[in-house]
Amino acid sequence: MSDLEQQFTAFRQRSDQVLLGYIAELPLNQSEMVAAMRHSVLQGGKRLRPFLVYATGQMLRLELNSLDAAAAAVECIHAYSLIHDDLPAMDDDDLRRGQPTCHIKFGEANAILAGDALQTLAFSILADAPMPDVTMRDRLAMLSELASASGAAGMCAGQALDLQAEGQQIDLTALEQIHRYKTGALIRTAVRLAVLAAGESGRHLMPQLDHYADAIGLAFQVQDDILDVIGETEKLGKRQGADQQLGKNTYPALLGLQQAQQKAQALQQQALASLQPLTAQGYDTAVLRALASFIVERDR
Ligand code: IPE
Ligand code: IPE
Ligand code: MG
Ligand code: MG
Ligand code: MG
Repeated sequence: MSDLEQQFTAFRQRSDQVLLGYIAELPLNQSEMVAAMRHSVLQGGKRLRPFLVYATGQMLRLELNSLDAAAAAVECIHAYSLIHDDLPAMDDDDLRRGQPTCHIKFGEANAILAGDALQTLAFSILADAPMPDVTMRDRLAMLSELASASGAAGMCAGQALDLQAEGQQIDLTALEQIHRYKTGALIRTAVRLAVLAAGESGRHLMPQLDHYADAIGLAFQVQDDILDVIGETEKLGKRQGADQQLGKNTYPALLGLQQAQQKAQALQQQALASLQPLTAQGYDTAVLRALASFIVERDR
């Protein structure tokens, strides 16, 4: 296993344990709705967003137990976004993470409610969980950050634009905007939550880390679009070719496969360049650099 894979495994196991704990504590944890939440949060998935929280926080020399709540919260929002993304009214998918999608397995009503409940669970965790070393002021900034990145100024806005553009010809500027909102916003938040948790010592690094996060966030969705064309359903755990079937606007659809791949690589280079000033200040950026490469090289 490469160093990055080992790090991925360690952070995934850590955040899964935290998430499992929060779901087990729910009062009606034998209900179908909670089973649907558990299915959608814990069955498969890369845990990229918790990884980013932990890796950024570790680079800023924070203790991992000050980052657990933020890592779990952003993954709850992500899992909810996937449940709703797969619903018949949205992308109408039946396969996710190699399993039946939430509404296929638990019915549409439970899927909608599991998504709703995961969204509010994210904010409960971030508001209530112990966060040693994080001031109340910084915690409030983290809550505000996660809320705006998730809603009408972030992920939801992007999802709405994505659906509105289905079957229509849009230009590259409009496509980039969709991707930055629907996917980039939550990825940037993962990085920002760690920066905010670091308090005053991290704040001045926010602009530079925003550059990094914006580059990998867009690259991540460009690669997601590419994998819809050249990936394998088996590895992806979701149906290859779904975008084309729905008439989605994607980078390969607009630019062709080769230029989409070049775009992903250019974004990777941007991400690496944006870490240079941090490396020069003595921060260990190795993990974040490796992640930028993983994002455009991944096959799942
Ligand atoms: C899929 O996200 C949806 C996008 C935002 C592109 P991931 O590829 O991170 O999904 P999981 O969590 O690994 O299943
Ligand atoms: C999903 O984008 C983005 C969010 C869930 C916010 P996609 O619709 O491309 O994600 P997949 O391909 O279904 O995972
Ligand atoms: Mg979608
Ligand atoms: Mg989808
Ligand atoms: Mg996709």
